[in-house]
Amino acid sequence: MNTQELVTEINRLKEERNAVVLAHNYQVPEVQDIADYIGDSLGLSHQAAETDADVIVFCGVHFMAETASIISPDKKVLIPDLDAGCSLADSITVEQLRSWKADHPDAVVVTYINTTAAVKAECDYCCTSSNAVDIVESIPEEKEILFLPDKFLGSYVEMVTGRELNIWDGSCHVHEKIGELNLGEKQKEYPDAEVLIHPECGCSTSCMMKSAMYFDCEDGHIHSTSGMLNRASESEAEEFVVATETGILHRMRKENPGKKFYPANENAVCEFMKMITLEKLHEALKYDQHEVKVSKELAERAHLPIQRMLNVA
Ligand code: 13P
Ligand code: SF4
Repeated sequence: MNTQELVTEINRLKEERNAVVLAHNYQVPEVQDIADYIGDSLGLSHQAAETDADVIVFCGVHFMAETASIISPDKKVLIPDLDAGCSLADSITVEQLRSWKADHPDAVVVTYINTTAAVKAECDYCCTSSNAVDIVESIPEEKEILFLPDKFLGSYVEMVTGRELNIWDGSCHVHEKIGELNLGEKQKEYPDAEVLIHPECGCSTSCMMKSAMYFDCEDGHIHSTSGMLNRASESEAEEFVVATETGILHRMRKENPGKKFYPANENAVCEFMKMITLEKLHEALKYDQHEVKVSKELAERAHLPIQRMLNVA
Protein backbone atom coordinates (compact mmCIF):
# COMPACT_ATOMS: atom_id res chain seq x y z
CA MET A 1 0.00 0.00 0.00
CA ASN A 2 1.26 3.49 -0.72
CA THR A 3 1.03 6.26 1.88
CA GLN A 4 -2.30 7.59 0.65
CA GLU A 5 -3.86 4.10 0.70
CA LEU A 6 -2.52 3.50 4.20
CA VAL A 7 -3.97 6.80 5.41
CA THR A 8 -7.39 5.95 3.90
CA GLU A 9 -7.35 2.48 5.43
CA ILE A 10 -6.26 3.72 8.88
CA ASN A 11 -9.06 6.29 8.88
CA ARG A 12 -11.59 3.61 7.87
CA LEU A 13 -10.42 1.22 10.61
CA LYS A 14 -10.44 4.01 13.19
CA GLU A 15 -14.09 4.63 12.49
CA GLU A 16 -15.01 0.93 12.31
CA ARG A 17 -13.36 0.22 15.68
CA ASN A 18 -14.26 3.48 17.39
CA ALA A 19 -10.54 4.03 17.95
CA VAL A 20 -8.60 7.17 18.79
CA VAL A 21 -4.97 7.68 17.77
CA LEU A 22 -2.84 9.54 20.33
CA ALA A 23 0.65 10.58 19.24
CA HIS A 24 3.56 12.10 21.12
CA ASN A 25 5.24 15.24 19.74
CA TYR A 26 8.32 13.17 18.75
CA GLN A 27 6.48 10.83 16.38
CA VAL A 28 7.40 10.72 12.68
CA PRO A 29 5.54 13.38 10.62
CA GLU A 30 3.10 10.99 8.89
CA VAL A 31 1.99 9.52 12.22
CA GLN A 32 1.54 12.99 13.72
CA ASP A 33 -0.49 14.01 10.68
CA ILE A 34 -3.01 11.18 11.06
CA ALA A 35 -3.33 11.39 14.87
CA ASP A 36 -6.51 12.63 16.55
CA TYR A 37 -4.42 14.27 19.23
CA ILE A 38 -0.69 15.13 19.40
CA GLY A 39 0.81 16.23 22.67
CA ASP A 40 3.23 15.96 25.56
CA SER A 41 2.98 13.33 28.29
CA LEU A 42 0.55 15.37 30.38
CA GLY A 43 -1.73 16.23 27.46
CA LEU A 44 -1.77 12.61 26.31
CA SER A 45 -2.69 11.45 29.83
CA HIS A 46 -5.60 13.90 29.89
CA GLN A 47 -6.75 12.67 26.49
CA ALA A 48 -6.55 9.04 27.61
CA ALA A 49 -8.68 9.95 30.64
CA GLU A 50 -11.31 11.80 28.64
CA THR A 51 -11.77 9.85 25.42
CA ASP A 52 -15.07 8.07 24.58
CA ALA A 53 -13.32 5.72 22.17
CA ASP A 54 -13.27 1.96 22.79
CA VAL A 55 -9.69 1.61 21.57
CA ILE A 56 -6.69 3.88 22.17
CA VAL A 57 -3.83 3.38 19.74
CA PHE A 58 -0.87 4.93 21.46
CA CYS A 59 1.82 6.20 19.12
CA GLY A 60 4.54 6.79 21.64
CA VAL A 61 6.66 4.65 23.94
CA HIS A 62 5.66 1.79 26.22
CA PHE A 63 5.39 3.66 29.55
CA MET A 64 2.98 6.12 27.89
CA ALA A 65 0.72 3.28 26.70
CA GLU A 66 0.90 1.76 30.20
CA THR A 67 -0.14 5.09 31.69
CA ALA A 68 -3.12 5.21 29.32
CA SER A 69 -4.10 1.68 30.41
CA ILE A 70 -3.84 2.68 34.09
CA ILE A 71 -5.97 5.80 33.56
CA SER A 72 -8.55 4.07 31.34
CA PRO A 73 -8.69 0.44 32.52
CA ASP A 74 -11.87 -0.27 30.54
CA LYS A 75 -10.37 0.75 27.21
CA LYS A 76 -8.25 -1.40 24.99
CA VAL A 77 -4.82 0.23 24.63
CA LEU A 78 -2.68 -0.77 21.66
CA ILE A 79 0.92 0.16 20.88
CA PRO A 80 2.05 -0.40 17.27
CA ASP A 81 5.47 -1.73 18.37
CA LEU A 82 6.01 -3.37 21.75
CA ASP A 83 9.76 -2.70 21.60
CA ALA A 84 9.26 1.07 21.76
CA GLY A 85 10.88 1.51 25.17
CA CYS A 86 12.59 4.40 26.96
CA SER A 87 16.14 4.60 28.30
CA LEU A 88 15.03 6.96 31.05
CA ALA A 89 12.29 4.60 32.26
CA ASP A 90 14.94 1.87 32.27
CA SER A 91 17.17 3.88 34.64
CA ILE A 92 15.34 2.57 37.70
CA THR A 93 13.90 -0.81 38.70
CA VAL A 94 11.23 -1.44 41.28
CA GLU A 95 13.75 -3.40 43.39
CA GLN A 96 16.16 -0.44 43.47
CA LEU A 97 13.36 1.88 44.49
CA ARG A 98 12.12 -0.45 47.26
CA SER A 99 15.63 -0.69 48.63
CA TRP A 100 15.95 3.15 48.72
CA LYS A 101 12.56 3.47 50.40
CA ALA A 102 13.52 0.94 53.06
CA ASP A 103 16.35 3.31 54.09
CA HIS A 104 14.10 6.41 53.93
CA PRO A 105 10.68 5.25 55.18
CA ASP A 106 9.26 8.77 55.65
CA ALA A 107 10.31 10.22 52.31
CA VAL A 108 7.79 11.33 49.68
CA VAL A 109 8.59 9.86 46.29
CA VAL A 110 7.89 11.89 43.14
CA THR A 111 8.23 10.02 39.88
CA TYR A 112 8.55 11.59 36.48
CA ILE A 113 5.99 9.94 34.20
CA ASN A 114 8.84 8.20 32.31
CA THR A 115 8.80 5.09 34.54
CA THR A 116 7.21 1.65 34.41
CA ALA A 117 3.83 0.99 36.05
CA ALA A 118 5.62 -1.15 38.67
CA VAL A 119 7.80 1.82 39.71
CA LYS A 120 4.83 4.23 39.70
CA ALA A 121 2.97 1.87 42.01
CA GLU A 122 5.67 2.50 44.67
CA CYS A 123 5.48 6.31 44.38
CA ASP A 124 3.41 9.05 46.00
CA TYR A 125 3.20 11.56 43.15
CA CYS A 126 3.67 11.39 39.43
CA CYS A 127 4.71 14.43 37.38
CA THR A 128 5.57 15.40 33.83
CA SER A 129 8.01 18.03 32.58
CA SER A 130 5.17 20.56 32.49
CA ASN A 131 4.09 20.22 36.12
CA ALA A 132 7.13 18.86 38.03
CA VAL A 133 7.71 22.23 39.73
CA ASP A 134 4.04 22.54 40.82
CA ILE A 135 3.98 18.99 42.15
CA VAL A 136 7.12 19.44 44.27
CA GLU A 137 5.82 22.80 45.53
CA SER A 138 2.56 21.14 46.61
CA ILE A 139 4.46 18.89 49.07
CA PRO A 140 4.89 20.25 52.64
CA GLU A 141 8.32 21.92 53.18
CA GLU A 142 9.41 19.62 56.00
CA LYS A 143 9.11 16.42 53.94
CA GLU A 144 12.14 14.63 52.55
CA ILE A 145 11.62 14.09 48.80
CA LEU A 146 13.06 11.61 46.33
CA PHE A 147 12.75 12.77 42.72
CA LEU A 148 13.22 10.06 40.10
CA PRO A 149 14.48 9.00 37.64
CA ASP A 150 15.80 12.01 35.66
CA LYS A 151 18.74 13.83 37.23
CA PHE A 152 18.55 16.80 34.86
CA LEU A 153 14.84 17.45 35.39
CA GLY A 154 15.43 16.87 39.13
CA SER A 155 18.22 19.47 39.24
CA TYR A 156 16.06 21.90 37.30
CA VAL A 157 13.17 21.44 39.77
CA GLU A 158 15.57 21.80 42.69
CA MET A 159 16.85 25.08 41.28
CA VAL A 160 13.43 26.57 40.52
CA THR A 161 11.77 25.52 43.79
CA GLY A 162 14.78 26.04 46.07
CA ARG A 163 13.92 22.68 47.71
CA GLU A 164 16.66 20.21 48.51
CA LEU A 165 15.82 16.93 46.75
CA ASN A 166 17.27 13.45 46.68
CA ILE A 167 17.71 12.96 42.92
CA TRP A 168 17.97 9.60 41.18
CA ASP A 169 20.96 9.26 38.86
CA GLY A 170 18.97 8.51 35.69
CA SER A 171 18.92 10.22 32.32
CA CYS A 172 17.62 10.00 28.77
CA HIS A 173 20.32 8.98 26.29
CA VAL A 174 18.88 11.36 23.68
CA HIS A 175 18.65 14.48 25.83
CA GLU A 176 21.85 14.05 27.78
CA LYS A 177 23.85 14.44 24.60
CA ILE A 178 22.31 17.84 23.91
CA GLY A 179 25.01 19.70 25.78
CA GLU A 180 26.10 23.22 26.35
CA LEU A 181 28.47 22.95 23.42
CA ASN A 182 25.60 22.38 20.97
CA LEU A 183 23.80 25.45 22.25
CA GLY A 184 26.95 27.57 22.19
CA GLU A 185 27.65 26.63 18.57
CA LYS A 186 24.07 27.25 17.50
CA GLN A 187 23.94 30.54 19.34
CA LYS A 188 26.95 31.72 17.35
CA GLU A 189 25.41 30.47 14.12
CA TYR A 190 21.99 32.03 14.82
CA PRO A 191 22.61 34.98 17.15
CA ASP A 192 19.01 36.27 16.95
CA ALA A 193 17.37 32.93 17.72
CA GLU A 194 15.48 32.23 20.92
CA VAL A 195 16.59 29.02 22.65
CA LEU A 196 13.90 26.50 23.69
CA ILE A 197 15.10 23.75 26.03
CA HIS A 198 13.50 20.58 27.35
CA PRO A 199 14.39 20.05 31.03
CA GLU A 200 15.63 16.50 30.35
CA CYS A 201 18.57 18.04 28.47
CA GLY A 202 22.05 17.70 29.82
CA CYS A 203 22.42 21.39 29.17
CA SER A 204 19.39 22.80 30.92
CA THR A 205 20.67 23.37 34.43
CA SER A 206 24.13 24.63 33.54
CA CYS A 207 22.60 26.74 30.81
CA MET A 208 20.22 28.34 33.28
CA MET A 209 22.99 29.16 35.71
CA LYS A 210 25.13 30.71 33.04
CA SER A 211 22.29 32.34 31.17
CA ALA A 212 23.39 35.89 31.74
CA MET A 213 26.93 35.13 30.62
CA TYR A 214 26.30 33.02 27.56
CA PHE A 215 22.90 32.82 26.03
CA ASP A 216 19.53 34.43 25.89
CA CYS A 217 18.33 31.44 27.81
CA GLU A 218 16.51 32.04 31.03
CA ASP A 219 14.07 30.09 33.16
CA GLY A 220 11.10 30.93 30.93
CA HIS A 221 12.56 29.09 27.95
CA ILE A 222 12.68 25.68 29.60
CA HIS A 223 9.51 23.77 28.78
CA SER A 224 7.84 20.43 28.17
CA THR A 225 7.46 19.56 24.48
CA SER A 226 3.98 21.15 24.29
CA GLY A 227 5.26 24.13 26.29
CA MET A 228 7.97 24.59 23.66
CA LEU A 229 5.33 24.49 20.92
CA ASN A 230 3.21 27.09 22.71
CA ARG A 231 6.21 29.33 23.26
CA ALA A 232 7.21 29.04 19.58
CA SER A 233 3.75 30.27 18.53
CA GLU A 234 3.50 33.03 21.13
CA SER A 235 7.03 34.44 20.95
CA GLU A 236 7.82 37.39 18.72
CA ALA A 237 11.16 35.80 17.78
CA GLU A 238 11.45 34.61 14.20
CA GLU A 239 14.16 32.01 14.73
CA PHE A 240 14.52 29.30 17.37
CA VAL A 241 17.18 26.84 18.44
CA VAL A 242 15.34 23.79 19.72
CA ALA A 243 17.01 21.61 22.34
CA THR A 244 15.03 18.38 22.37
CA GLU A 245 14.28 15.36 20.19
CA THR A 246 14.10 16.48 16.56
CA GLY A 247 10.61 15.02 15.90
CA ILE A 248 9.10 18.15 17.44
CA LEU A 249 10.37 20.28 14.53
CA HIS A 250 7.68 18.93 12.19
CA ARG A 251 4.85 20.40 14.24
CA MET A 252 6.74 23.60 15.03
CA ARG A 253 7.34 24.28 11.33
CA LYS A 254 3.79 23.28 10.36
CA GLU A 255 2.19 25.55 12.97
CA ASN A 256 4.55 28.48 12.37
CA PRO A 257 5.24 28.67 8.63
CA GLY A 258 6.85 32.12 8.83
CA LYS A 259 9.39 31.13 11.51
CA LYS A 260 12.65 29.17 11.37
CA PHE A 261 13.55 26.29 13.68
CA TYR A 262 17.01 24.72 14.08
CA PRO A 263 17.76 21.62 16.15
CA ALA A 264 20.39 22.16 18.90
CA ASN A 265 21.72 18.72 17.95
CA GLU A 266 20.68 17.07 14.67
CA ASN A 267 21.50 13.67 16.17
CA ALA A 268 19.03 13.97 19.04
CA VAL A 269 16.75 11.29 17.62
CA CYS A 270 14.88 8.84 19.85
CA GLU A 271 15.02 5.50 18.07
CA PHE A 272 12.23 4.19 20.30
CA MET A 273 9.80 6.90 19.22
CA LYS A 274 10.76 6.29 15.59
CA MET A 275 9.82 2.59 15.82
CA ILE A 276 6.20 3.63 15.31
CA THR A 277 5.42 3.88 11.60
CA LEU A 278 2.27 4.33 9.53
CA GLU A 279 2.53 0.66 8.47
CA LYS A 280 2.67 -0.54 12.09
CA LEU A 281 -0.18 1.77 13.07
CA HIS A 282 -2.25 0.22 10.28
CA GLU A 283 -1.37 -3.32 11.44
CA ALA A 284 -2.21 -2.41 15.04
CA LEU A 285 -5.74 -1.41 14.01
CA LYS A 286 -6.21 -4.24 11.54
CA TYR A 287 -4.91 -7.13 13.68
CA ASP A 288 -5.74 -5.66 17.11
CA GLN A 289 -2.11 -5.62 18.24
CA HIS A 290 -0.18 -5.11 20.57
CA GLU A 291 -2.29 -4.73 23.67
CA VAL A 292 -0.72 -3.03 26.68
CA LYS A 293 -2.65 -4.06 29.76
CA VAL A 294 -1.61 -3.31 33.32
CA SER A 295 -2.99 -5.83 35.81
CA LYS A 296 -5.88 -4.60 37.98
CA GLU A 297 -3.91 -4.79 41.22
CA LEU A 298 -0.90 -2.91 39.81
CA ALA A 299 -3.09 -0.39 37.98
CA GLU A 300 -4.93 0.51 41.19
CA ARG A 301 -1.67 1.28 43.00
CA ALA A 302 -0.09 3.09 40.04
CA HIS A 303 -3.23 5.14 39.50
CA LEU A 304 -2.92 6.97 42.82
CA PRO A 305 0.23 9.02 42.02
CA ILE A 306 -1.12 9.73 38.52
CA GLN A 307 -4.48 10.88 39.88
CA ARG A 308 -2.72 13.16 42.40
CA MET A 309 -0.81 14.66 39.49
CA LEU A 310 -3.93 15.16 37.38
CA ASN A 311 -5.62 16.81 40.39
CA VAL A 312 -2.72 19.24 40.92
CA ALA A 313 -2.47 19.96 37.18
P1 13P B 1 7.15 15.68 27.37
O1 13P B 1 6.19 15.29 28.43
O2 13P B 1 7.73 17.05 27.58
O3 13P B 1 6.54 15.55 26.02
O4 13P B 1 8.41 14.70 27.43
C1 13P B 1 8.31 13.32 27.25
C2 13P B 1 9.57 12.69 26.87
O5 13P B 1 9.72 11.50 26.83
C3 13P B 1 10.67 13.57 26.58
O6 13P B 1 11.75 12.81 26.19
FE1 SF4 C 1 12.59 8.12 26.64
FE2 SF4 C 1 14.43 9.86 25.90
FE3 SF4 C 1 13.00 8.66 24.05
FE4 SF4 C 1 11.85 10.52 25.66
S1 SF4 C 1 13.47 10.85 24.14
S2 SF4 C 1 11.03 8.53 25.11
S3 SF4 C 1 12.96 10.14 27.57
S4 SF4 C 1 14.43 7.67 25.46
